Amino acid sequence: MNNPKVKLIFNGKEEPLELPIISPTIGNDVIQIEQLQEKKVYMYDPGFVNTASCESQITYINGKQGKLLYRGYPIEQLAEKSDFLETSYLLLNGELPDQDQYEQFSRSIRIHTIVHEQMRQFYNGFRRDAHPMSIMVGVVGALSAFYHDSLDINDPTHRKIAAHRLIAKMPTIAAMCYKYAIGQPFMYPENSLSYTGNFLHMLFGTPSEDYQVNPIAEKALDRIFILHADHEQNASTSTVRIAGSTGANPFACISAGIAALWGPAHGGANEACLKMLREIGTPDRIPKFIKRAKDKNDSFRLMGFGHRIYKEYDPRAKIMKESCHDILEQFNASDIPLFQTALELEKIAREDEYFIEKNLYPNVDFYSGITLNALGIPTQLFTVIFAIARTVGWISHWHEMISGKVKLGRPRQLYTGKKERDYVSSNNRSIKK
Ligand code: CMC
Repeated sequence: MNNPKVKLIFNGKEEPLELPIISPTIGNDVIQIEQLQEKKVYMYDPGFVNTASCESQITYINGKQGKLLYRGYPIEQLAEKSDFLETSYLLLNGELPDQDQYEQFSRSIRIHTIVHEQMRQFYNGFRRDAHPMSIMVGVVGALSAFYHDSLDINDPTHRKIAAHRLIAKMPTIAAMCYKYAIGQPFMYPENSLSYTGNFLHMLFGTPSEDYQVNPIAEKALDRIFILHADHEQNASTSTVRIAGSTGANPFACISAGIAALWGPAHGGANEACLKMLREIGTPDRIPKFIKRAKDKNDSFRLMGFGHRIYKEYDPRAKIMKESCHDILEQFNASDIPLFQTALELEKIAREDEYFIEKNLYPNVDFYSGITLNALGIPTQLFTVIFAIARTVGWISHWHEMISGKVKLGRPRQLYTGKKERDYVSSNNRSIKK
């Protein structure tokens, strides 16, 4: 059978251009358009809404069916049966580990949890009230100044060590941001604990008292890490890929990803959503906020609602909602009114013509903030938690790209500026009123 092609006719005169169609293992076909260069035309697709920027084998999303697969495994199964380290191994390596592989991987992550002692001094350069994401961008980028032995991106061993270092050190760096903000001493990692237990220990433990990790909190946070671990070519992952395509080192690339994640349209939405729910306060005030969200002249949007890809319920949000309910029941009754407001907001929005027509459903950030809050995590750390989890996704994509044929990421543009013109000296410039 001939390979399928699409014919593109220019001006109805010339011979049509035949563009190959590539079929994925699952999902939509892709038209290969490099040949269009010959015709001196570009594709115009603001926000890359319909552009496949790379080939990838890591994560698959079906937005119409609300489906998310990591390396083929449904997110629901991983959230129920796996743990974050196992899921990380899967994302990085393509297969679930056997017991030996799991042990080796988790040992390797454990031995890299500590950060260079000199890095502790970095924190003193930041204001105590700095947003932790601003510190994350700086400190993670600075890892490249400390770990010169894992900067050769062409060496697979260097790449592997850099990946393990990043996954291992993110919780340490994140917990240090929090300790710095509240003026408590930094806690060294305790490597006998699980990945997530260790993070809770560094966050909430102090050198003066014994800290026992709460297994319910540990499990709930670990699940949040799994849900946020990867999401194919989202804004921050694409940022990491573009930065990586220049040959930049992995620490610099992940720092770029953290910066992109921070925005409220992306990872910053979890913090913004909780602030919104607090501002709404009680269910009787919901209609006022719904009205604002629908008003074209108001920039307010319902945070934690809508998604570029999901036009159905975000499968992560479904799991998050159940988790949130369990956690609140198990140990934080004081957050129940906030949860009730969220449930009522979802109900009202889902019955509203505007949200129905635009297929706007709750996304992962809608219920994650309430859960994190119930676990005692400060609001400013919500996006940092997202960054810890997404690091494995970012580094898996970076690794996948660097291991193959790297093409510099360099989009074109539709130029609508001035045509070429001559320079005019300042005394001859007329001032336009
Ligand atoms: N509240 C009110 N209206 C909305 C919302 C919302 N949350 N989201 C989208 N719309 C409207 C939007 O105004 C637009 O209307 P119109 O067609 O009349 O101009 C239409 O829906 C399509 O929106 P868009 O901005 O063109 O769609 P997008 O795919 O570019 O945006 C989004 C996706 C996530 C940026 C957007 O839904 C949004 O801003 N949501 C709130 C922020 C949020 O929760 N972000 C977290 C995303 S999930 C976590 C992650 O993976 O990062």
